[in-house]
Amino acid sequence: MIKYQSPEVSKKAKEIMARDKKVMFGAHTRTDEIPLVIDHAQGAQVTDVNGRNYLDFGAGFAVVGTGHCHPEVITAVNEQIRKLIHISGSDFYYTQQIELAEKLAQITPGDFEKRVYFGSSGAEAVEASLKIARYFTRRPRMVSFLGAFHGRTFAGMTMSGSKKVQRAHFSSLIPEVYHIPYPYCYRCVFGQKYPDCISHDYKGVPLIHCLSYLADVIFERLINPDDVSLIMLEPIQGEGGYIVPPKEFLPALRKMADEHGIVLIFDEIQSGLGRTGRWFACDHVGIAPDITLIAKAIASGFPMSATVGKAELMDPAVDSRAWVPGCHGSTFGGNPVICAAASASLKIIEQELIDNAAKVGGYLKEQLNEMMARHKIIGEVRGLGLMLGIELVADRATKDFFPPQVTRAGKNIKEVITGECFKRGLILYGAGISSLRMSPPLMIMKDDAEAALKILDEVITDVEGQLS
Ligand SMILES: Cc1ncc(COP(=O)(O)O)c(C=O)c1O
Repeated sequence: MIKYQSPEVSKKAKEIMARDKKVMFGAHTRTDEIPLVIDHAQGAQVTDVNGRNYLDFGAGFAVVGTGHCHPEVITAVNEQIRKLIHISGSDFYYTQQIELAEKLAQITPGDFEKRVYFGSSGAEAVEASLKIARYFTRRPRMVSFLGAFHGRTFAGMTMSGSKKVQRAHFSSLIPEVYHIPYPYCYRCVFGQKYPDCISHDYKGVPLIHCLSYLADVIFERLINPDDVSLIMLEPIQGEGGYIVPPKEFLPALRKMADEHGIVLIFDEIQSGLGRTGRWFACDHVGIAPDITLIAKAIASGFPMSATVGKAELMDPAVDSRAWVPGCHGSTFGGNPVICAAASASLKIIEQELIDNAAKVGGYLKEQLNEMMARHKIIGEVRGLGLMLGIELVADRATKDFFPPQVTRAGKNIKEVITGECFKRGLILYGAGISSLRMSPPLMIMKDDAEAALKILDEVITDVEGQLS
């Protein structure tokens, strides 16, 4: 049993939290472990209302890629705000939106003509992609993955397979979605071992076991793949636990989608825009989807998403099967001020941060692996660039989870570690059932990585000391 107490909260912070509680909706996921009442933030530093600084290894859920309040983003916004704040990008023309769409078409995977739809949140990009694929194919069925998180709207929640609380009591969801296991090889639901699980090919492409389940079982017994409009997935699962699939995963899905005219959608909302040390996570295996979903880091914290797809899927001037004017749109999507923030953000990411994420992320991963060798409660370290997951286990041999309540106060292991890190000045979030995630701003330096590693090491040493 671990002796753990949630971080103390100052009088000033308590007062603000009490006001918040009286007026804000109750479905927020705030925890007692990170009782952060923020005053301001800069780069990778967040300062609370008492003037205490924290090193931010969460980046507002992987949003502030350029760091908090990047001066060039502020300048771009300030300049734009004096010229035009809003006019509706669905109905009128302005260059800020066009320039951003041109840049996105250039950097997103796939050497083909593209079209872009702007929304205001990740879930809206998910919604749009569903509508695009359903409209184009006129097919009712869809495939998604267990562990996936695609947002909180009806489409987002239907496609997600992360936590039951996100779906409970909201039925009926959108019908005809089939969730299949994601290649979470550390805990394979089929009890297989990668790469031994590759027993055969699909049209010349090696098939890992979870995809043979799709090709040989689901597509044979349950649904005709020619009835499937889309397959949606995160090339690295985010909320699911920062899970990196084997390199054979995306090529096989690409092949299946091509064989059956299925629209392949990559949700790069969390993994995209430099976080993994490439523009997009799928770039690591050189596989392009038909539609790429982007949000989070695109405008350094201003709300924006982009759905970037093949021109024929999104433009009836290119293909008569594509959606027609009026069947989709958004009042705020492509807001000129946010476009300016996004263009500035992409420039900074391109010039400095993709390489930095690869470099500092590589160092962090190496050090975390070294930490794993010293700490038995770390079962696996995984991830790419600055998207790193650390899976916690009660027993490394059996991979058993810690019992849900390892403390007298009823906290689980993720809460204990994130809470202890917070007390020592590090913001770190949990992910999946029993993992920690590192998703700092992409501008962090080696010093920041060392500071975070030192805190985490101390915390895990303490926790382990209490367990033995
Ligand atoms: C992979 C992924 N898709 C979609 C979403 C939903 O984005 P939003 O909260 O902006 O609607 C998230 C949010 O965490 C995400 O991580």
